Amino acid sequence: MNAVIYGNHALVVVANRLPAYRSEGSWSPSPGGLVSAVAPMVRESHGAWIGWGGTSEEEFEPFEFDGMSLVPVALGAEEHERYYEGFSNATLWPLYHDLVVPPQFHRSWWQTYRSTNARFAQAAVDSAAPGATVWIHDFHLQLVPEMIRAQRPDVRIGFFNHIPFPSETIFAQLPWRDSILRGLLGADVIGFQLASDVKNFRSAVSRYLDIDSGRLSNTVHAYPISIDTAAIHEVAEAEETQELARQMRVELGDPRTLIVGIDRLDYTKGILHRLRAYQELLEDGVLDPQDTTFVQVAEPSREGVESYQDLRDDVEQLVGNINGSFGALDGAAVHYFHHSYSFESTVALYLAADVLLVTSLRDGMNLVAKEYVAARHNNGTLVLSEFAGAAAELHDALLVNPHDIAGLKDAIRLGVEMPAAEAGKRMASMADVVERHDIHRWARTFLADLQPTAPTRELRTSESSNESSSAGHTKRIQYVHTAE
Ligand code: F6P
Repeated sequence: MNAVIYGNHALVVVANRLPAYRSEGSWSPSPGGLVSAVAPMVRESHGAWIGWGGTSEEEFEPFEFDGMSLVPVALGAEEHERYYEGFSNATLWPLYHDLVVPPQFHRSWWQTYRSTNARFAQAAVDSAAPGATVWIHDFHLQLVPEMIRAQRPDVRIGFFNHIPFPSETIFAQLPWRDSILRGLLGADVIGFQLASDVKNFRSAVSRYLDIDSGRLSNTVHAYPISIDTAAIHEVAEAEETQELARQMRVELGDPRTLIVGIDRLDYTKGILHRLRAYQELLEDGVLDPQDTTFVQVAEPSREGVESYQDLRDDVEQLVGNINGSFGALDGAAVHYFHHSYSFESTVALYLAADVLLVTSLRDGMNLVAKEYVAARHNNGTLVLSEFAGAAAELHDALLVNPHDIAGLKDAIRLGVEMPAAEAGKRMASMADVVERHDIHRWARTFLADLQPTAPTRELRTSESSNESSSAGHTKRIQYVHTAE
């Protein structure tokens, strides 16, 4: 057996992506809540962050960046295709999002998922100091906890899943379900967004590993993720952002009502459902295209995956149909943007919108909803899917089942017509929630639980262990700001 060579980092974060992206030959910090919450902790302990370097064309050596040691994991083109586009995004993603599209099961993808997870795990093993804390993120890396544990019994291992964990009957379809569960059980703390994810995971463990999940020595708990509320406030309060919001409305023809959707172009987001509801409201004459405008930002995502390409075609066709019927020379009924927006422009769009639509068919959390609330503070209305994790906290949104197009139409109409006093009251109560539970608190709570001396679950205060609340994650690629 080879002797283990210890690294020198007391905190090691392992995620699919690094907290920096490469552009024109140099690295820049990735924007986003997760990075802004976790990076300072990594910096403080002179920690390491392990992640994919972002391209198959170049390989990078570990480097120092912004007070952190970044350790890029190189993925060849075929590995990227099988591990990221294939097993992560065409097997696990649809399976964990309740089969919105059919998952594909390929043994070759699974082999590559395993071997790639082993490379991330090895990089963590090599970086971690004796007794270090290792924090692994998301569904791309579910085998990593067990792989690290096998070599490094001395470290504390945490795993947080940013997306839902499916019900036992859906998870049943995965040919490699036992290995995934064993992989996760390598962690001391296994975190999910919602109490329902915890319950699903526990049932799967009991059923497929034949372990009494009530007797697990691991902490399995809900840690609803949140946003960098203070950063949103700062940008929302800046005069330039407010001016940009005003300009946006002017450029859109100064509509009486501006409805907005901001998402990654992903089939879990229910973009087609909201467009259909809007189309019918125009057809019914409930909304007038002369004084109502809909802006849909759909940030390009996972463009190598077929179901994402199909969705793009469907969305663009429907937008074309709506504009063909209701657009005019001086304005479109739907303004559709298939590109990313900067953080500042996204916040300006939140400020410009009268009604924000979040109509996810399934969503771990949905941080767009929380960011909108933080930016608006005491006005604007939010239509929110009951299938987004955020619905467990944002009770004062107009909650909808996006499959129920009639109900969705009613909610949009209510949102458009809601008296300002009521909208303000609802928004203020939701703003209070995102103020109290921000991303910094989320990160601190998770890491505190990961310490060897962490109080047992039963001993924690009811507020910090609130299992009925929920929360999400933030996606970050270059110059992108679309909260998950
Ligand atoms: O929330 C799940 C997630 O995979 C995040 O980890 C990521 O930031 C986001 O979706 C976008 O995904 P990708 O990294 O595939 O662009």
